[in-house]
Amino acid sequence: MTLVAASVGDGAAGGCRHLAIIMDGNGRWAKAKRLPRIAGHREGVEAVRRVVEAAPGLGLEMLTLYAFSSENWKRPADEVSDLMGLLHHYVKNEIDTLHKNGVRLDFIGDWQALKPDLVRLLAAARDRTSANTGLRLIMALNYGGQGEIVRAARALATDAAAGLIVPDDITAEMLEARLDTAGLPPPDAVLRTSGELRLSNFLLWQTAYAEFLVTETLWPDFDGPALATALDEFSRRERRFGGR
Ligand code: FPP
Repeated sequence: MTLVAASVGDGAAGGCRHLAIIMDGNGRWAKAKRLPRIAGHREGVEAVRRVVEAAPGLGLEMLTLYAFSSENWKRPADEVSDLMGLLHHYVKNEIDTLHKNGVRLDFIGDWQALKPDLVRLLAAARDRTSANTGLRLIMALNYGGQGEIVRAARALATDAAAGLIVPDDITAEMLEARLDTAGLPPPDAVLRTSGELRLSNFLLWQTAYAEFLVTETLWPDFDGPALATALDEFSRRERRFGGR
């Protein structure tokens, strides 16, 4: 009961403080317009800009975006290179505006394994914005939920082997503290665009009690009003966290 009262407040986002988004449909958007896939991804970046700008006004404190999954490496090399280029471009060009707007940028996933120049840019953007107190923008890069849990399990096993912890004493909190998202509240909701009904290896642990929101809108068409509609849907959900 207490949990329900605490999570469904009467904030502008209907209690949604942390929204995680699976940005899907860039390819279909481009195909429908007979454009190359890169055009869809480029418009996808515009949608990221619109959503980041609209989020604080809708009461969101945290936004986690699934920008590149650990499975996305299976795409053709040209497309992977285009996506990395767009990410580089976005962070390089947007960082001043993000910083001015008080956004704190952070990353989850094995992002340190990306190309060294990109890693340097991302680390500098994270460090520059680390004291900001506005929207927390978390980009999942080279991220996969199963891989993240495996890395946390390895960290626990290493601590156990070193005699720092006892296997029988391992708790959910101890595993959570070794996830990339350690210290962050779990998402209240996961939104997926383009009508697909899959989690696609996104935040598998953290979404245990998240509400699932789906819109038919393709990601490049997504904007502030579409975000407001999704959050309105969230505000009408009754969350029970396994209770009744
Ligand atoms: C899914 O569309 C989207 C992605 C694989 C990546 C999302 C990337 C962006 C929005 C652009 C880069 C982001 C940033 C933050 C700079 P899809 O290609 O799977 O679409 P489809 O299912 O219609 O083919």
